[in-house]
Amino acid sequence: MNKITNNPFHLRDKIILVTGASSGIGREVAIQCAKAGARLVISGRDAARLEETLGLLAGSDHRAIAADLTDQQQLHALVEQTGTIDGVVHGAGVHGVMPIRLVTDTFLNYVMAINFNAPVLLTQRLLYQKKLRDGSSILFVSSLAAHTGTIGVGPYSASKAALIGLARCLALEVAKRGIRVNTLSPGLVDTPLLEHNQIMLNEKASMYPLGIGRPEDVAYAAIYFLADASRKVTGSVFNLDGGIPFT
Ligand SMILES: NC(=O)c1ccc[n+]([C@@H]2O[C@H](COP(=O)([O-])OP(=O)(O)OC[C@H]3O[C@@H](n4cnc5c(N)ncnc54)[C@H](OP(=O)(O)O)[C@@H]3O)[C@@H](O)[C@H]2O)c1
Repeated sequence: MNKITNNPFHLRDKIILVTGASSGIGREVAIQCAKAGARLVISGRDAARLEETLGLLAGSDHRAIAADLTDQQQLHALVEQTGTIDGVVHGAGVHGVMPIRLVTDTFLNYVMAINFNAPVLLTQRLLYQKKLRDGSSILFVSSLAAHTGTIGVGPYSASKAALIGLARCLALEVAKRGIRVNTLSPGLVDTPLLEHNQIMLNEKASMYPLGIGRPEDVAYAAIYFLADASRKVTGSVFNLDGGIPFT
């Protein structure tokens, strides 16, 4: 029998920071990364749900640090406590539905603050404080909404499209250190983010040839982008759209 001696898809010896780990996609990314051998630093706002996630992680030496990433002091404190890492997955985000004719300055700032400003400023701080090792991986979570038009989700779509633009520039800035920057664009994924909108979820499900996503589908892709298997992949946008035609 052939023995696999070199598996570039594992995360052993890597420390990964996952935001949004108290729920949905971020929680599942943390769970699957731990199964792949990583040590995790997980973050979210709700300390109790974050502890729940911690209890679901295989292995040991994981840490949970609660933080509201729209609060600069809490964001800085998270970076201080994180230590040196090999990768970050920016899973924290909000949805938010508001037709443009009703949009307010407050609403725009709310969506942009967590979906765009927070991952950018967290990345800035990690880089500035030299917390990301050479060869590490930065992974943003955008959305299919960045590529399509849907009534009522203009600010959300814009926040997710902004991430893609930012990521392409950042990929060039950090390439000299072998740091990779990639973006996942999931279509609908069944998580608490959309649970208030189960009717929409059911309606849209039929549009996806492979069905809508589950959090683990996103997590498996995240593992690839965090692992050495993707060491020459940067600036890319990876669609997890269940085959939905959107061009
Ligand atoms: N579900 C989908 O269909 C879908 C599709 C494409 C992209 N996405 C993106 O995937 C990411 C995760 O979504 P999800 O479906 O997993 O949603 P979710 O289950 O609602 O989880 C959202 C996470 O973001 C955290 N968060 C929200 N505001 C925060 C803040 N101010 N500071 C720190 N953390 C904050 C939440 O923390 P607390 O709960 O502790 O407050 C929670 O852990 C989002 O960026 C979303 O836009 C989702």
